[in-house]
Amino acid sequence: MDATIAVLAGDGVGQEIVPQAVKLLQAVGERFHHRFEFVAGDVGGQAIDKVGVPLPPETLALATRSDAVLLGAVGGPKWEGFEYGRRPERALLGLREQLGLFANLRPARLYPMLADASTLKREVIEGIDLLVVRELTGGIYFGKPKGIKKIAGGEKGVNTEVYTTEEIRRIAKVAFEAARKRRRRVTSVDKANVLESSELWRRVVIEVHKGYQDVELSHMYVDNCAMQLIRNPRQFDVLVTTNMFGDILSDEAAMLTGSIGMLPSASLGTHAGLYEPIHGSAPDIAGKNMANPIATIASAAMMLAYTFHLDKEAEAVEHAILQTLEQGYRTKDIHSPGARLVGTSEMGDVILKNFQQG
Ligand code: IPM
Ligand code: MG
Repeated sequence: MDATIAVLAGDGVGQEIVPQAVKLLQAVGERFHHRFEFVAGDVGGQAIDKVGVPLPPETLALATRSDAVLLGAVGGPKWEGFEYGRRPERALLGLREQLGLFANLRPARLYPMLADASTLKREVIEGIDLLVVRELTGGIYFGKPKGIKKIAGGEKGVNTEVYTTEEIRRIAKVAFEAARKRRRRVTSVDKANVLESSELWRRVVIEVHKGYQDVELSHMYVDNCAMQLIRNPRQFDVLVTTNMFGDILSDEAAMLTGSIGMLPSASLGTHAGLYEPIHGSAPDIAGKNMANPIATIASAAMMLAYTFHLDKEAEAVEHAILQTLEQGYRTKDIHSPGARLVGTSEMGDVILKNFQQG
């Protein structure tokens, strides 16, 4: 197979973790005889510094013409005071919107040997394997009206939660399809006791479910879900939810697995898929060779599976990650006494070596 992959490392630890995943993808190409062409682009704060905007037109054009996008992270304290429209995060939102990436898949699985790295008790988290399906191009992130206006006596900040039937329908389908490849259970998370947009959400999900009677559907309010995720996370298979609820719940789900540095994601839609770790740019540890590259390498594995349909290759990468953890290698975020503490690039090297020997 021949494919072009846009590589947008971005800010902070993005610059350290993305090269580790590229290394792995290169090795996949060599071992399985695929020709991957990697084209780097500027994104986020790093793009602001270089050309003045977080998502330069060349980067958007590159992402659009590529078969897949590998992204690191965007943002950092340096750009926090910037006017809203010129912040690094706008790049991510712009890419999602422009590429039509409405479905964000965030799998949270516990690697058994990391049970002790979690802040939760082993018996609570053992065996968890869930998938958050987050709607990614709608809801309060994009709804109008929005903005900050002057009013008598001060200002008024407005964002609007909006969902249309069609937006709900297509994300519900993604969740039910995903459930068919898993344990066939979908929990739809909303706030239908308070929000009209959620009332519609629930109604449409129930409607779409009629075509998926082999999948079990249940509904949960988001506050309860936040609680259930730490009380009894094993009850979940697929969670489907709105943009903002999914943002929050996926960080929570990540911590079940020990570290947010472990969670990959795939954003899918009408164009090229975008693959990125769910964590951010982690400015506090950036440039120190400390970040965990596993979420990014696992995101590359998701790219192989979802965009290129190279399941064997994806499994080989995942196996190399598992093997590396079995051998006791740990970055600082998942380190526990007795394990072998390594930096970002060493972790990437060991996974690479395991892959090559696999
Ligand atoms: C995520 C992030 C982003 C989001 C930010 C960086 C815009 O938190 O991908 O979860 O809120 O979607
Ligand atoms: Mg988030």
